[in-house]
Amino acid sequence: QNKELERLLQAHEWAAKLFHYLLKNTEHGKAAMEYLRARGFGDKLIDQFQIGYAPDRWDTLVQFFEKRSFDLKEMEKGGLLSPRQNGSGYVDRFRGRVMFPIMNRSGRVIAFAGRILGEGQPKYLNSPESRLFNKSRTLYNLNLAKGPIRKQGQIVLMEGFGDVIAAWDAGVQHTVATMGTALTENHASLIRTLTEEVVVCYDGDNAGQAAALKSIPILEGAGLHVKIAVLQNGLDPDEYIKTYGQERFVDQIIHGAVSTTKFRLIYTKKNYNLLEEDGKAAYAQEAINVIAHLTSPTEREVYLKELSTEVGVSLESLKQDCNLARQTLNRKQPPSGQQGNRNGNNGNAR
Ligand code: UTP
Ligand code: MN
Ligand code: MN
Ligand code: MN
Ligand code: MN
Repeated sequence: QNKELERLLQAHEWAAKLFHYLLKNTEHGKAAMEYLRARGFGDKLIDQFQIGYAPDRWDTLVQFFEKRSFDLKEMEKGGLLSPRQNGSGYVDRFRGRVMFPIMNRSGRVIAFAGRILGEGQPKYLNSPESRLFNKSRTLYNLNLAKGPIRKQGQIVLMEGFGDVIAAWDAGVQHTVATMGTALTENHASLIRTLTEEVVVCYDGDNAGQAAALKSIPILEGAGLHVKIAVLQNGLDPDEYIKTYGQERFVDQIIHGAVSTTKFRLIYTKKNYNLLEEDGKAAYAQEAINVIAHLTSPTEREVYLKELSTEVGVSLESLKQDCNLARQTLNRKQPPSGQQGNRNGNNGNAR
């Protein structure tokens, strides 16, 4: 059993080395190399993240493993090979794709994600879940990020491979990715063993922002202090860095990360036209409902003051409405049941 696991790990290690070699040193890898260059991945990043290329052939790994007398059936269980459709034998699972090896915490390769060059479906082909690879417990780049996370006292959470690599290149090295899957409680408690503070920096499209909102109670539920790095106009971190530069990404997006309350307000505001009286009033009411959840009167006042300026309503009126909203809240919910925070505070108390 354990021997099989070790053989699978070794097969992944070999495959990563082979893909990396084929990308860098052979004709097969040329188009992929051009693709990576166009995306701004230099040699250093390609080495650091052991990026590779799986040629558009059926038997790159099959031949490689056969020569070395690996058990191909085991390789299939580990997701590197697929059974041949007609007849017996195996074919490579990853073909014609840029290969991102996924490492566990200690830096051993446990899976791959293969990106198509350009457009096509699926954009990323991933290793299936296996004894080696459990997606809901794996964070991409944790092996390299764990030192920086400890040093910074913080972790940055992103969606994708390109995002983490671009952030790394920008000097934000305490970054990991959930690889598109929804953040799980397993992820959150894993993060909690490493640090107390998370900056969620998901894609600026609707899906990413909705996912950021959903991640808040999960992370706070694990006892983490959460901030949100908000990307607007649909860009993801990688695209933002390419568009506006590394410095602006670090200064404005990462260092400009906002409280979860502020994020909820920004998120809500998009649905209203603040140039109209109706829109202002409706937004104010929803914003008050968000602010009412805060247990600290001081914090409530800070946000209500900002809101007062924004919608042109006196602080006194907003406070009255907020107190009304709190009474309704207290009637509807048990005191600590709000925003999924088991500590009974708003997560900002630290
Ligand atoms: P995105 O759709 O935001 O892709 O998915 P991306 O990371 O920006 O991809 P690029 O920049 O075009 O290369 C975020 C993450 O979701 C996972 C991947 O981990 C991806 O990085 N994903 C996405 C998949 O696993 N499969 C897919 O088909 C798409
Ligand atoms: Mn190398
Ligand atoms: Mn996305
Ligand atoms: Mn993206
Ligand atoms: Mn992207």
